[in-house]
Amino acid sequence: MAISRIFLILTLFYYFSTSILAANPTYHVLSYGAKADGKSDCAKAFEAAWGAACAITSPATIYVPQGRYILGNAYFEGNECKNNAITIQIDGTLTAPFDYNVIGNSNHWLTFKKVTGVSIRGGTLDGLGANLWACKDSGKTCPEGATSMAFLNSNKISINGLTSINSQKFHMIFDGCNDAKLQNIKISAPNESPNTDGIHIARSSLVSITNSRIATGDDCISMSPGTSNVFIQNVACGPGHGISIGSLGWVLNEAGVENVTVKSCVFSGTQNGVRIKTWARPSNGFVNNIYYEDLTMVNAKNPIVIDQNYCPNNQNCPKQSSGVKISGVTYKNILGTSATELGVNLECSKTEPCTGITLDNIVLKHKNEAANVVCENAVQNMNGVVNRLKCQPKK
Ligand SMILES: *[C@@H]1O[C@H](CO)[C@@H](O)[C@H](O)[C@H]1NC(C)=O
Repeated sequence: MAISRIFLILTLFYYFSTSILAANPTYHVLSYGAKADGKSDCAKAFEAAWGAACAITSPATIYVPQGRYILGNAYFEGNECKNNAITIQIDGTLTAPFDYNVIGNSNHWLTFKKVTGVSIRGGTLDGLGANLWACKDSGKTCPEGATSMAFLNSNKISINGLTSINSQKFHMIFDGCNDAKLQNIKISAPNESPNTDGIHIARSSLVSITNSRIATGDDCISMSPGTSNVFIQNVACGPGHGISIGSLGWVLNEAGVENVTVKSCVFSGTQNGVRIKTWARPSNGFVNNIYYEDLTMVNAKNPIVIDQNYCPNNQNCPKQSSGVKISGVTYKNILGTSATELGVNLECSKTEPCTGITLDNIVLKHKNEAANVVCENAVQNMNGVVNRLKCQPKK
């Protein structure tokens, strides 16, 4: 009797201690001097909590309670960090300083560099970008703006439930990273806010973005050279410029983009749906093995685009032809409406025609009529596609 009662008490104690008190050592940012008073710069306090979590080797949690915390530039460095299982649990909002100049001349506002095994749970980032965008619109000289959160040369990143609003420039960047899982991300900035890409992926591999909502002034997701093994599913994009690979092929020697899947996404009122864009310049870059499936377009202006003739103002494109070789791109079950007569526009390079382009069940309407499908220098396999113009099916 007594023994079973002790056992019950121990069981209850175990249950409460793991569910209410975190099992991991927890570093509260308030204990390191953070104040949610709308005045204090909390960057140093956050860095100090990071330093403490990094000093141990077992899993640790950094905790940010509710409230608004102002932070100038903050750096979370992995070089000196012994810990590769740090969770940052954020119940509050991190806000950029009111004066955009404080962070506006740095590349990134919150930087994670060479970290491994960082998880971010919850939280809101407010880049307070509106005053900087207004400065840019006015034609005055203004800072370039900082990306709200950057992961550089980092591995095993997991982000779940983070919200980013009104970034000065991009919302998030993953550059030189391997293995990043992003889920339940919410990004929002106004339609006309300049260069506010949602999530930018560069030189990274094994990145997944799922169950997320991105509304912003530039690309919802953009991928640049050296990116591979990207999986995007259940992402709602709009307003924004769509999900883009590119611009690629600015330089001669360039890493390719390969193995990208975009599945079950919705594009609402976007400038583009899915786009691959390359400069009309010599390059040995490439795009290979790209899979777009089960996409819904709701009045996207250019639902499906390959543009290999990109050369604004016809400057810096000596041969007016892209050297980037595009092969193995599948578009399957892409339905909905186009805001223009052009539903599919495949403008491939005249010197490196696209190969292995498959269009399967593409049903896009403009004003209740089937939208046009236009091909140039593309050899394609087609099934269930009407209104083809200049499209030569594979011989
Ligand atoms: C792309 O996928 C193929 C097939 O799964 C794989 O062999 C190749 O290594 C992948 N490319 C990269 C850069 O990981």
